Amino acid sequence: VTAAGAALRRTLGAVRRSMTAQITLSITLVSVLIVAILGMAVDQFVRSELREENESLLLSNLAFVRDDLAAAGYNPARARAIVDNLERRVHRLHAAVLDEAGGAVIASSPNYAIPSANLPEHVFTAERLPGGLSAAEVAQLRERLEPKTSIWAAPDGRRYRVLLGRIAAPALSARPVLVALAIETSNTPELRTHNRRNLLLGIAAAALLASVFGVWIAGRILANTRRLGAAASRIGAQALDERLPLSDTPTELVESTLAFNHMLDRLQSAFERLSAFSSDLAHDLRTPIGNLLGEAQVALSRPRSADEYRAVLESAVEEYERLSRMIGNMLFLARADNDQATLSAHWIDLDTELDRVIGYFELLAEERGIVLDKSVRAAAGAARRVWADESMLVRALSNLVSNALHHGKRGTRVTLSATARPDGGCTLEVANEGDAIPAEHQLRIFERFYRVESARQGSASGSGLGLAIVRSIMELHGGRASVASAPGQATVFTLHFPPPA
Ligand SMILES: Nc1ncnc2c1ncn2[C@@H]1O[C@H](COP(=O)(O)OP(=O)(O)OP(=O)(O)O)[C@@H](O)[C@H]1O
Ligand SMILES: [Mg+2]
Repeated sequence: VTAAGAALRRTLGAVRRSMTAQITLSITLVSVLIVAILGMAVDQFVRSELREENESLLLSNLAFVRDDLAAAGYNPARARAIVDNLERRVHRLHAAVLDEAGGAVIASSPNYAIPSANLPEHVFTAERLPGGLSAAEVAQLRERLEPKTSIWAAPDGRRYRVLLGRIAAPALSARPVLVALAIETSNTPELRTHNRRNLLLGIAAAALLASVFGVWIAGRILANTRRLGAAASRIGAQALDERLPLSDTPTELVESTLAFNHMLDRLQSAFERLSAFSSDLAHDLRTPIGNLLGEAQVALSRPRSADEYRAVLESAVEEYERLSRMIGNMLFLARADNDQATLSAHWIDLDTELDRVIGYFELLAEERGIVLDKSVRAAAGAARRVWADESMLVRALSNLVSNALHHGKRGTRVTLSATARPDGGCTLEVANEGDAIPAEHQLRIFERFYRVESARQGSASGSGLGLAIVRSIMELHGGRASVASAPGQATVFTLHFPPPA
């Protein structure tokens, strides 16, 4: 029993997983149900039609018998001829004339087989029947009079519908006579088994047809998803620009196909950014390492004095510092990408913080002939502070000031200004006077390793990570960084800090 149960559970599980099985099973069940219901409905309809027809026949012939009996003067021999004649005229119809108690048979057709003991309980008064009725009138009358007929089963298995009518026949008998009319219904047991077999055959045929149809339909539906799957399996790192076709996709699958294609769009752009990043990275590491290698090889090519070695090492230390800064920056960005750089934000006093950054860059500014300026403003009701992570704020500001000093013209000013808003938000600006950043570069300078072409050639110091770090830091704070630069105007980088969450 447990083995059979397990097998049944396995089969059910397989059906639940297979769409073909589900579709086929549903179509088959529905078809079988429809055929069964239809079959039973037709059977019921035929039965009631047959009954109405038989009852009409019984009624109209009862009227005949009554009129004939009246015309024949109620002679028993004539009565006998009348019922004989009746059976000859309508093959399935049998008749008998009985005395009122239903005991003695006055006249009966040859095939009359209804024993008087089994007469129906309901007796219909035949005087209520008008004579010489048309078929349509009889049908109408039948509905109005609702004659009580009953089914009688003979010992040989045949079934009859019987109508018993009371007819006043003074010449024949002092009391009214009973006329029994019986019509054999075609509803014999053989016929019923035959009908049942037909119905079962119909159901089996419907089930067979429906399951073939179900398998075919399911195959057609699933062919679409198989096609999508085949297209999806063609897409790899080498063919990331391939998209699933929308032209012959069924409407129901368009949405998921679109979603899949959009996912590919996102993957492709992330993939392209990543490969650009790694090739830039290789390129930027190769230059300083090449320099270091060249210098070391030259130094080793012949014996050198201690001073010469010292000079080589000193220049190497500069390169090492640059490399280490770059690797530190890249680590920072990688951690920010993976959300590992967690923010420990608190209120920071703007004056103190700007003074500190200016302090870091005082010497460099002096060297480049630039004056560093500070301006802190707070809107009415706002405190002079910003909600931020202190070390990250310093890092972002330092990157901007370093750029500003690098690109600012000798003899000009670099201004650090802060504006605190009443809602707790704050904007910080670093402005310098120098060559404007061309508009086509302004959006891209925040990307990793992106440097404006002329700057890349002119300076060996930058790696193009500074502004990418600024952007990352601002995203961690839920804010953003922007730039405004146009010829003849100061270049202004702005950090937008939102109010604390
Ligand atoms: N104040 C500025 N004026 C003009 N151009 C600027 C200014 N700040 C940045 N840029 C341009 O944006 C580019 C990207 O700046 P970013 O700070 O990201 O890199 P970098 O300064 O070259 O190198 P790093 O900061 O990593 O040492 C720079 O190469 C420069 O061309
Ligand atoms: Mg920089």
